Amino acid sequence: MRVLITGGAGFIGSHLAEFHLERGDEVHCVDDLSTGTLENVAPFREYPTFRFDRAEILTWEGLSEALSQVDRVYHMAAVVGMFRVLAEPEAVLATNVAGTERVLRYAAEGGAKPRVLVASSSEVYGPVGTHRLDETDGLLVHCDTAKTQWNYALSKLAGEALGITYSGSFGLPVTIARLFNTIGRRQSGRYGMVVPRFVQQAAVGEPITVFGDGLQTRSFCNVEDTVRALHLLCGSEAAEGEIVNVGNDRSITIIDLANLVRELAGSGSPVVFVPDSEAYYRGFMGIRHRKPALDKLKRLVDFEPEVTLEDTIADLLAAKRPAVEGAGATG
Ligand SMILES: NC(=O)c1ccc[n+]([C@@H]2O[C@H](COP(=O)([O-])OP(=O)(O)OC[C@H]3O[C@@H](n4cnc5c(N)ncnc54)[C@H](O)[C@@H]3O)[C@@H](O)[C@H]2O)c1
Repeated sequence: MRVLITGGAGFIGSHLAEFHLERGDEVHCVDDLSTGTLENVAPFREYPTFRFDRAEILTWEGLSEALSQVDRVYHMAAVVGMFRVLAEPEAVLATNVAGTERVLRYAAEGGAKPRVLVASSSEVYGPVGTHRLDETDGLLVHCDTAKTQWNYALSKLAGEALGITYSGSFGLPVTIARLFNTIGRRQSGRYGMVVPRFVQQAAVGEPITVFGDGLQTRSFCNVEDTVRALHLLCGSEAAEGEIVNVGNDRSITIIDLANLVRELAGSGSPVVFVPDSEAYYRGFMGIRHRKPALDKLKRLVDFEPEVTLEDTIADLLAAKRPAVEGAGATG
């Protein structure tokens, strides 16, 4: 199989690349390295079936040709992370809406019509939801009160609409994956992701900073489970033209998460609270709960999350240890 991954040097994109390379597939990654890194894809250079282009999805001249040569596309390139979303509201719309439109249009125009997976996000569900969020739920956006905070959710919703439209109008086999929080190695904590930030803070003995009251809940899925679900969805004809939640339905409060990381790290880091208005800005609308209903995913494909939150955190701490010990030794 030949696979194109946009955002292939990013967190989830690089795990998708690794998964397919290990299966013996040809993998072509494209990434502008805005948040992704060459380090993420460096180990793949030893595969003769791996190819990487540093390019911007909105302007890349090789896009049409690349799409004509593959069986499958994972469209992962996006401006992500709440810090980046707040700092670059225009880039969020340009990359996430116009970039997605360009990928879908070129894929539909070519003769080959590859299988396309568009990465959406649980952010489209908005601030509501104490229940398991289901694909049939109505969606709510607070543009007037929280302003550009919602650009990310809106851009992902537009990407969904584009995917569904290209599927219905042009027969392009598209599946939309609404990804819930995904965690694992290679995820950066720089742009507001909570688990890598807690792991880093616990590993070096700094205070673990909980934003808000810590009673908000999230559901975390190991990236290897996520990648398996995305691969299975792309192999399912029944998933064509569908929007599907992808994640793990075990939920945890952020304060419990902080304590779990602290305990697994054997760290003496204190847990401290930072108001949302300080972490982000005054008027920031925190999201209370995020838990996926996985009924549709499980109906479409044979999927069950396999990696526990404890095992993922332990793995992240193990990956941090050499760097922390190295820093201690030199300084
Ligand atoms: N990680 C999560 O928990 C999560 C949750 C919901 C949705 N998603 C979605 O999954 C996808 C991958 O996210 P991730 O967590 O791996 O983030 P990431 O930032 O690691 O990956 C995105 C990649 O896209 C690249 N990119 C950004 N703009 C680009 C452009 N204009 N042209 C080319 N490349 C560009 C970045 O350099 C990066 O490598 C995104 O679409 C994101 O919205 C992720």
